[in-house]
Amino acid sequence: MSNLKFDEETARLQRALTLCHDLVVRRSAVLQALHLRTGEQVLEVGCGGGSYAYEAAKCVGPDGCVCATDISEAQIAAARECCADRACVDCRVADLADLPYAEGTFDAAFCSQVLEYVPCLDESVREIHRVLRPGGRLVILATNWSSLVWYSADPERMKNILSAWDEHATYPDLPAILQARLLKAGMKPLRQSPVPIVNMSYNESGFSYWIARMIKRYLTVRGTVAAHTVDAWLDEFDELEKEQSYFFSSTPILTEAIKIS
Ligand SMILES: C[S@@+](CC[C@H](N)C(=O)[O-])C[C@H]1O[C@@H](n2cnc3c(N)ncnc32)[C@H](O)[C@@H]1O
Repeated sequence: MSNLKFDEETARLQRALTLCHDLVVRRSAVLQALHLRTGEQVLEVGCGGGSYAYEAAKCVGPDGCVCATDISEAQIAAARECCADRACVDCRVADLADLPYAEGTFDAAFCSQVLEYVPCLDESVREIHRVLRPGGRLVILATNWSSLVWYSADPERMKNILSAWDEHATYPDLPAILQARLLKAGMKPLRQSPVPIVNMSYNESGFSYWIARMIKRYLTVRGTVAAHTVDAWLDEFDELEKEQSYFFSSTPILTEAIKIS
């Protein structure tokens, strides 16, 4: 079960994260894989602050529609603001387990960093499958959190922090189990490809700068690691940056599939 609460502060960090260079690259990879065409109906689940929906709207144009859904009212309010000048974007509060759309509505559906948080993966994939038309495309972006390499002069502390963070998601290595789950739901997996992130520097334009703050927020609220340990862990990154020895890498995976039955 996911323990990450998408409250106001987490949503604020999430929105800051979406502006960093690594996530601009990620959005472009997701949209490229979707192959959207003018006039298509597309569904985004877990749209967060709406940055993907905004870009997708440019691809489907005024004759198409982007239905952007999220379980969080705060995120949907932010998505509405972000997409205010895109008439073809409709933002709605909705749980992925119970989408307010008829069977076969969409030509394509996508989600970025969402399915790892749902309580039941099979139920969620079945629900997306239901609202896709036969032949409809699905693109899922998710991280194998075990793929993380984050340098620290105190590897034991880093290991403890990352293993406490692993509890934030129901499925921390989602891409590794997706193929079988998609097949079970009547989707044909087409390919999985990496969208790697490597940060040699610790600053606001990098993914790791923001994810470090998300991790601190998560661990502070949960109280599973002592506050002084979390502070020392975060402070080390400034030191490493000064010494020019900062290193972070992770391997998010793009999974593409189509509805076959
Ligand atoms: C890590 S954020 C990703 C946001 C956005 N997709 C992005 O990549 O920038 C996860 C999002 O999924 C949403 N979410 C989590 N569980 C959900 C569910 N069961 N149904 C719909 N949205 C959900 C959260 O509210 C949050 O906005």
